[in-house]
Amino acid sequence: MSERKLKVGVLVSGSGSNLQALIDACAAPDHPAEIVLVLSNRPGVRALDRAEAAGIPAMAIDHKLYADRATFDADMQKALDEAGVEFICLAGFMRLLTPEFVEHWSGRMINIHPSLLPSFKGLNVQQRAIDAGARFSGCTVHYVTPEMDVGPIIQQAVVPIHQNDTGDTLAARILVQEHRIYPASLRWIAERRVRIEGERVFLDGATPPDAALLNPAPEQAD
Ligand code: GRF
Repeated sequence: MSERKLKVGVLVSGSGSNLQALIDACAAPDHPAEIVLVLSNRPGVRALDRAEAAGIPAMAIDHKLYADRATFDADMQKALDEAGVEFICLAGFMRLLTPEFVEHWSGRMINIHPSLLPSFKGLNVQQRAIDAGARFSGCTVHYVTPEMDVGPIIQQAVVPIHQNDTGDTLAARILVQEHRIYPASLRWIAERRVRIEGERVFLDGATPPDAALLNPAPEQAD
């Protein structure tokens, strides 16, 4: 591993629990990434407090003050450049980005989404997974491409959907896994172990699990 840490910018809009997981992971002295800027499109959100508490430069660029997406994205780009950001993590960032911005960061920007992509893109995905009768849901870390919630998948975690789940209980179960896989994916990227080939992502040294998940387990229904 090289001594120089990957300089990461995290884009947020809300509570920032994934940001916190990234902050905590990067706090390890041997972690190969460092968060150099947290940017929010909403002032006053908890994510900004989390960044400040960790001593990380944080700023809000209020999208409501902008007439169009292009000038908003240009100001974000300027802030990212000034901070020396090399890689972006979207962590609950609730604004669509312009194709120009996404193109500029192609292969250098990842997102976490609370479903097993390519199923359930967009919003309210936990409730939609329940309503669709799915037995499992989970979360996905993926590279960002111009189309929303599409892009090469780096890592996924699966959680069961329980019969009495609500959108909130399922979201909480998924969030626990989000906080595991987002820092792990960032670490792999910063270690330069991740390779994109077309739509697929390969991880050097990965050991895939070979156990299958069943819900309900057949033996429970015997
Ligand atoms: C998470 O569920 C994430 O998957 C989605 O937005 C939510 C952000 O939560 N993109 P937090 O702000 O990280 O707590």
